[in-house]
Amino acid sequence: MASISTTAKETSKTIQMLERIGSHSHVKGLGLDESLNPRHTSQGMVGQTSARKAAGVIVKMVQEGKIAGRAILIAGPPSTGKTAIAMGMAQALGPDVPFTMLSSSEVFSLEMSKTEALTQAFRRSIGVRIKEEKEVVEGEVVEVQIDRSLTGATKTGKLTVKTTDMETIYDLGNKMIDSLSREKISAGDVVSIDKSSGRISKLGRSFTRARDYDAMGSDTRFVQCPEGELQRRKEVTHMVSLHEIDVINSRTQGFLALFAGDTGEIKPELRDQINAKVGEWREEGKADIVPGVLFIDEVHMLDVECFSFINRALETELAPLVIMASNRGMTRIRGTRYKSPHGMPIDLLDRVLIVQTKPYELTDIRAILQLRAQEEDVTIDEAALEVLTRIGGETSLRYALQLITTSSLAARRRKADSIDVQDVRRCYGLFVDEKRSTQFLAQYGKEYLQEEDYVDGIPANGSADVSATTAAGAGTAPMELTMS
Ligand SMILES: Nc1ncnc2c1ncn2[C@@H]1O[C@H](COP(=O)(O)OP(=O)(O)OP(=O)(O)O)[C@@H](O)[C@H]1O
Ligand SMILES: [Mg+2]
Repeated sequence: MASISTTAKETSKTIQMLERIGSHSHVKGLGLDESLNPRHTSQGMVGQTSARKAAGVIVKMVQEGKIAGRAILIAGPPSTGKTAIAMGMAQALGPDVPFTMLSSSEVFSLEMSKTEALTQAFRRSIGVRIKEEKEVVEGEVVEVQIDRSLTGATKTGKLTVKTTDMETIYDLGNKMIDSLSREKISAGDVVSIDKSSGRISKLGRSFTRARDYDAMGSDTRFVQCPEGELQRRKEVTHMVSLHEIDVINSRTQGFLALFAGDTGEIKPELRDQINAKVGEWREEGKADIVPGVLFIDEVHMLDVECFSFINRALETELAPLVIMASNRGMTRIRGTRYKSPHGMPIDLLDRVLIVQTKPYELTDIRAILQLRAQEEDVTIDEAALEVLTRIGGETSLRYALQLITTSSLAARRRKADSIDVQDVRRCYGLFVDEKRSTQFLAQYGKEYLQEEDYVDGIPANGSADVSATTAAGAGTAPMELTMS
């Protein structure tokens, strides 16, 4: 392959950004100090100190490029902040380290094989930082002169640009004229023009023109008029992931697939070529590999084939750090009859570092509730916060967090500014938590359909069906009993 292109980048970043808003939007980092000790409440994180510290150590190692090809498991009961910690790690790593998030069930729902989905996720998590030398013209615009023909179809123009030492007039083609007017370039702007692509960008306004206009937007940036030569070579770097390079160079897909998110399967030969090319660039000093992080949430949802793929993929040369999270204890490994801790095969467990999250104390629950209330822009009065905290302790943190949203709706219904105990009580009655739902099932479970009574939608023994229809006929059964 003669050339491998690496542009068309922003798109996949925006996809990642979208995933980050929502129930973890209050998390802005791990909240650690310089020596990696967690502050109790900082950057949207509360408590869970030892897990956060461990996460901080990992972030540090990733930043120093020491830890690619390893795996971490964050294990703990539901809603103890596993996903939140992973989000915090992504934030702490910053935009220069690729961070990919994968929900295990996505591996099964995409229109591609499981291993292809995992391969793509692995390659999304490896960044290639590419250095390029570009020839640019940088200077202050002295004059823009555009002549339109009578019909307006053709345009010609001249652009005068200067530095403190020299001044040159450039002839403008149609494309340049369009981009000048798009960027609203006028005399006094300091611009940078990429000579090969013709792309023009505004660096700011020249200081010498600061007094020319009294009405200027407050966001105007003033810069010095450049010195020396107008034309210069400039080193620019940009970052793309291996997956992006795959997609851009995959002839059947093309880079438009990046926008659609529908990339299909990519041929292994293409990947081999790209790996070889990237290796070459690396030797020539044109590119660096930046191993990032692949976060696989709910990892117990993967099956034994996926696990063995991960096992092998971790050993390849281009492997990211893999972080997994699971809330399962002893669980059957999907695709086998064996039970194993966290639903993961022992041989994989043996290679991972395990970070534990523990259930929260009431004070932590209270602080998290407060953070979320701030984030959702609702006020809660003291007594209601007390009740919510107690609910959080007895049911689950997540249930209490959900009551904030619903209670704020209730408060708004009665045109109040803040949530009071009544609102919380009303929602507590309207929406049951897992415990109460289980209790209800224990009492009235017989009236529901039971899975074991049905095999592929057909009653295993006719009697279950008969009793269901008679119950429905009597008009006492819950809605769940209506069948087609
Ligand atoms: N230490 C924390 N600081 C701030 N917010 C937290 C903390 N722990 C959890 N949260 C918030 O509580 C909610 C539940 O946490 P999270 O989703 O991270 O739990 P989880 O451990 O991933 O649970 P599951 O096993 O069910 O996936 C989220 O909205 C999360 O942002
Ligand atoms: Mg989670």
